[in-house]
Amino acid sequence: MKSFYVTTAIDYANGSPHLGHAYEKVLTDVVARSRRQMGVPVHFLTGMDEHGQKVQQSARREGVEPIEYTTRIAGQFQQLCRDLNISNDDFIRTTEPRHREVVQSLLQQLYDQGDIYQAEYSGYYSTRIEQFVTERDQVDGQWPEEFGEIQEITETNYYFRQGKYQEWLVGMLRDNEDFVVPRFRQKQVLEFLKEPLNDLCISRPVERLAWGIPLPFDENFVTYVWFDALTNYISAVGYGTERFSDYWPVDYHVIGKDILLPPHSVYWPIMLHACGIAPPQHLLVHGWWTISGAKMSKSTGAGVDPLAMIGQYGADAFRYFVMREMTVGQDSEFSEELFLTRYNSDLGNDLGNLLSRLLNMGSRYTDSRVPAAGEPGEPERQVRAHWAETWEGALEDYREFLFHSALERTFGFIRGLNRYAETRAPWKLAKSEDPADRVLLETSLATLAEGLRLAGNALLPVLPEVCATLLDRIGAPVPEVWEGHMEWGTSLEGQGLGERTILFPRS
Ligand code: ME8
Ligand code: MG
Repeated sequence: MKSFYVTTAIDYANGSPHLGHAYEKVLTDVVARSRRQMGVPVHFLTGMDEHGQKVQQSARREGVEPIEYTTRIAGQFQQLCRDLNISNDDFIRTTEPRHREVVQSLLQQLYDQGDIYQAEYSGYYSTRIEQFVTERDQVDGQWPEEFGEIQEITETNYYFRQGKYQEWLVGMLRDNEDFVVPRFRQKQVLEFLKEPLNDLCISRPVERLAWGIPLPFDENFVTYVWFDALTNYISAVGYGTERFSDYWPVDYHVIGKDILLPPHSVYWPIMLHACGIAPPQHLLVHGWWTISGAKMSKSTGAGVDPLAMIGQYGADAFRYFVMREMTVGQDSEFSEELFLTRYNSDLGNDLGNLLSRLLNMGSRYTDSRVPAAGEPGEPERQVRAHWAETWEGALEDYREFLFHSALERTFGFIRGLNRYAETRAPWKLAKSEDPADRVLLETSLATLAEGLRLAGNALLPVLPEVCATLLDRIGAPVPEVWEGHMEWGTSLEGQGLGERTILFPRS
């Protein structure tokens, strides 16, 4: 059976992880975990992009071999995955033999079928983006700053006839209107394809760049990093072997908006098509985290260290913040102040306090078990109706990658539970001698426990550790799939209520 196959971009091994990388891992993890909760078998890939000029330069600066350098950086990214509780099934490094073999086999196939040819080219070259650029790329007669230093060079290289497949690509995009999610970005791709496509230079002479995968048909050249890097998505799942069809075509490549055009939306589908491989099903394109309006990157990110924040507030708090704050596809501003507001109000006040209140009342007013609920009154009926509406919307949001909205709805429901607690005021009922008030007290505790169970289930993809703790304290299992566990019920009756727990210590 084919898995739901989802990938992140593979990160450049030329620097340490930053907020942008952490976000993309969390986003893809939430995609993977939510599909698993929907009962879908998932295969989740992430990894490292280790070749290329920038990596070679960084290693040289430190006076070490490139592989020594990238192994250290890969270790940092793997640690980031562990620290963030990322549930990836595989981690690929483009320096692995399983990857090199596939890159070389694709190149050989394209060469043999006449889609790769040799030619001489003179032009402007940007080391920063590792691409030839043209005057068309200039803005007001100036090279954009992100290109870094521009050199004029003449070189013999190998070219991939991608122009030949332009019409096919346009047709494929027309037939698959949701190839790029969100849709407005698909329009940008079609706009780009109105101009004729240049053939793609897929080699670099070894004198200029030694750190790469040698072309199988000419050892004086290594493979252009983008051709190399994109291939990770198939080399990691056994392209050329039987198991490949358990994964391919990929369901979603999760990427940032800077690498949509042209690598993922033009080079990659065309490379695959030319080799007789199906294109990806979808690209899920997220925006940028900015700090004071500037794109967060190695050079500008000195102020915020995601690893430090994770250490201080916990992985789940970080995961919650980035998923709640950013609408997938749009940019978002990061600040510690915004983070602390979410941490203290949503997580601490709304969720954390509700659990500790319930556990506290459980130990004071019951034998530390979830009591039986009596006949529902109007407040109970309202809570149940609120849940039904919340979950219907949140499940749809999870399907549609509207994670901020799934969280907003679920926390809306949690705030509703808090209001319900105020309305019933079990702490007042506890003072009454009236047996009817005793029933109401037990009903209200049972209702709060059941509401927390459902909210905890709904939040599992985003807050896996916190929800496991929460569910444990109210005697509920962690459901492997949502189905059969998301209806209002009475399964908690008689379950032990655990000791008082602070989910989010005040900060
Ligand atoms: O582009 N906000 O690697 P990379 C959100 N190796 N996302 C951000 C971001 C920010 N401020 N900065 C970077 C590469 N990202 C290539 C990919 S895939 C075959 C090869 C995202 O380390 C960026 O958009 O520069 C990309 O999706 C990912 O982090 C890796 O960026
Ligand atoms: Mg980048």
